[in-house]
Amino acid sequence: MYVLGIESSCDETAAAVVKDGREVVSNVVATQIAEHRLYGGVVPEIASRRHCENVYQVVQKALDDAKLSLSEIDAIGVTYAPGLIGALLVGVSFAKGLSLTSGVPLVNVHHIAGHIASNYISHPELEPPYLCLVASGGHSHIIEVTDYTHYKVIGRTRDDAAGECFDKAARTLGFEYPGGKFIDDASKRGDAHAFDLPHPRVQGSEYDFSFSGLKTAVINLVHNASQKGQQLNRDDVAASFQRTVCEILVGNTIKAAVNGGYKTIAVAGGVSANSGLRAAMQKACDEHGFRLYVPELKYCGDNAAMIASQGCYDFISGKRAGMDLNGVATLSLDTLSAQTPAV
Ligand code: KG4
Ligand code: ZN
Repeated sequence: MYVLGIESSCDETAAAVVKDGREVVSNVVATQIAEHRLYGGVVPEIASRRHCENVYQVVQKALDDAKLSLSEIDAIGVTYAPGLIGALLVGVSFAKGLSLTSGVPLVNVHHIAGHIASNYISHPELEPPYLCLVASGGHSHIIEVTDYTHYKVIGRTRDDAAGECFDKAARTLGFEYPGGKFIDDASKRGDAHAFDLPHPRVQGSEYDFSFSGLKTAVINLVHNASQKGQQLNRDDVAASFQRTVCEILVGNTIKAAVNGGYKTIAVAGGVSANSGLRAAMQKACDEHGFRLYVPELKYCGDNAAMIASQGCYDFISGKRAGMDLNGVATLSLDTLSAQTPAV
């Protein structure tokens, strides 16, 4: 079964064809990062305009690279939530037009479910149930993946997402947007124990995250030093910050796995590219005898292969979208399970 995936929820216009949910046949990503970098973050209006300009060529290239015509595609999976509403609407409207004119069924795919599916591409043997940490620019969730279309979010951020925290700390340290990768690189040169930063606790849920206090601590550290005319070693701050974020992400995930009786853990989302997180999670999993799955680097950030993969499982479960499909800026993953039969 061939599924065409279309993704436009943020600043990447992407399309891909995936066979049987696991095998990537083509994968095209047109990133807008260079343009948004000028403004220090994603400008929603610019993102929508660039998606409009690029979506036709990106989808055509995905079909061309796959050497398939639309009539050979079994379903079109499109990201409809969550994300920037204007950006989402471009992919949703384009996918609806394609489906209407070709008769190929349309499936609406949740972006976080897509990130989770990135590990199905990289690891053919991975099957639910397992526990997944999704850490990206917009989300930080600990999720029980009970089957291919059912999820229970048991931990979430109360304020900033992990990637957002990376990007804001990076900006304070003078790195360009998005700064997660620069912090990762600087950490390799720095002393991760040079600074003690807070591990904010959240009342009410033992698995929830709070990153805004950590972000403020880095900002205060850097600003206080500069007011005193002191020069901090940027690599040391980056490494200490990254160690702290990783301790928080790994700590909550392992605790949830132990309490929930999970032996298999997956990590996904843009922050899953972080070398410190991958190493720290692997170490913790080895200590507990857990199996860890992380996506290949090219499937960590936003892409449409993960959307096509999840679209395949959603399609098999019987999920379909009609011409009334709309983009949804905010939508919890929990709400999907009630709507979709198990696969
Ligand atoms: O999943 P993604 O591409 O977009 C969202 O759905 O949000 O995630 C983007 C985020 C950005 O915050 C970026 O800085 C972060 O992932 N990121 C990293 C690394 N590579 C990307 N954070 C830490 N270390 C990295 N190597
Ligand atoms: Zn994403």
